[in-house]
Amino acid sequence: MTHRIVTLPGDGIGPEIVAPAVELLKRLGDFEFDERVFGGASIDASGTALTDEVLDACRGADAVLLGAVGGPKWDTTDPHAPRPEQGLLGLRKGLGLYANLRPVKPIPALYDASPLRRERIEGTDLLVVRELTGGIYFGEKQRTAERASDLCEYTVEEIERIARVGFGAARSRVSSVDKANVLETSRLWRETVMRVHSEEFPHVELEHVLVDNAAMQLVSSPRHFDVILTENLFGDILSDEAAMLTGSIGMLPSASLGERGGPGLFEPVHGSAPDIAGQGIANPLATFLSAALLLRHGLALETEAAAVESAVQRALDGGLRTADLGGEAGTAQATRAVLDNLE
Ligand code: IPM
Ligand code: MG
Repeated sequence: MTHRIVTLPGDGIGPEIVAPAVELLKRLGDFEFDERVFGGASIDASGTALTDEVLDACRGADAVLLGAVGGPKWDTTDPHAPRPEQGLLGLRKGLGLYANLRPVKPIPALYDASPLRRERIEGTDLLVVRELTGGIYFGEKQRTAERASDLCEYTVEEIERIARVGFGAARSRVSSVDKANVLETSRLWRETVMRVHSEEFPHVELEHVLVDNAAMQLVSSPRHFDVILTENLFGDILSDEAAMLTGSIGMLPSASLGERGGPGLFEPVHGSAPDIAGQGIANPLATFLSAALLLRHGLALETEAAAVESAVQRALDGGLRTADLGGEAGTAQATRAVLDNLE
């Protein structure tokens, strides 16, 4: 069976890192690729970051691989102007992708590339499970000349389903992160997580951590964490912080999943890096690792997924370092190194 993959290269370095990922995937199976315009590029072409046609193409695909969106060209504080990020949020909402998985496992060859000391990060292997279609991102927004507000809302059902993903992914412990000492949504979050835990996952250890404390523990004792289960905005912030444990945000992949049967969205956690776009120096490894997640979670091709991950690992063991990791390899050289290590 041929799998259909929609690719959305997007903006900035997006096209430069998606193209090599497609090259990599072509080595691993008989996939059909359908490239579509998305983000700022789509605003330029049709005035909106995500057209209905592209959303429909994504709905009909087996998986979606995304590069990155955004750039100074479309940066604006005008609430009526289209923004590239709306494409991403529209895609997450439109495909019902409520579960965002961001694995953070520093590769030993890169221990010394992290701004944190090696002893701190050694052995870290955690997964951020971020709720992706609720909370302050999607609540009602208001703006007058004198005031602005963003509503943060969560329903029990939204919390239950992401909690199940978190507990299901845990090997030992779930650290549920909230701000229950201040926020009502966090109190509902905490109660709901506790109920799902006692009713369905009593064998998994559960702890509750306030978000400010979680931010601190992520750098003071990252090894402590297994699954970090959290809401949309906290997950956004904590996952960038966690990315630095791996040496560079250029290393972190992500998977966004919805109900069974629908296509997942796979993308690097980093942005479009407009400052280095077009120079051929972007690190493609987070996109390769996202392609691995696509193979594993999107297409149930575990062997191929593991092959990509080991090829990346071997390339790094062999000395591959892109500029963000303090080295000199460009995108093409990094791609070659990984392809050469594919077994
Ligand atoms: C991410 C990004 C997005 C988010 C932006 C681009 C809207 O930062 O995927 O983490 O905030 O979710
Ligand atoms: Mg982010």
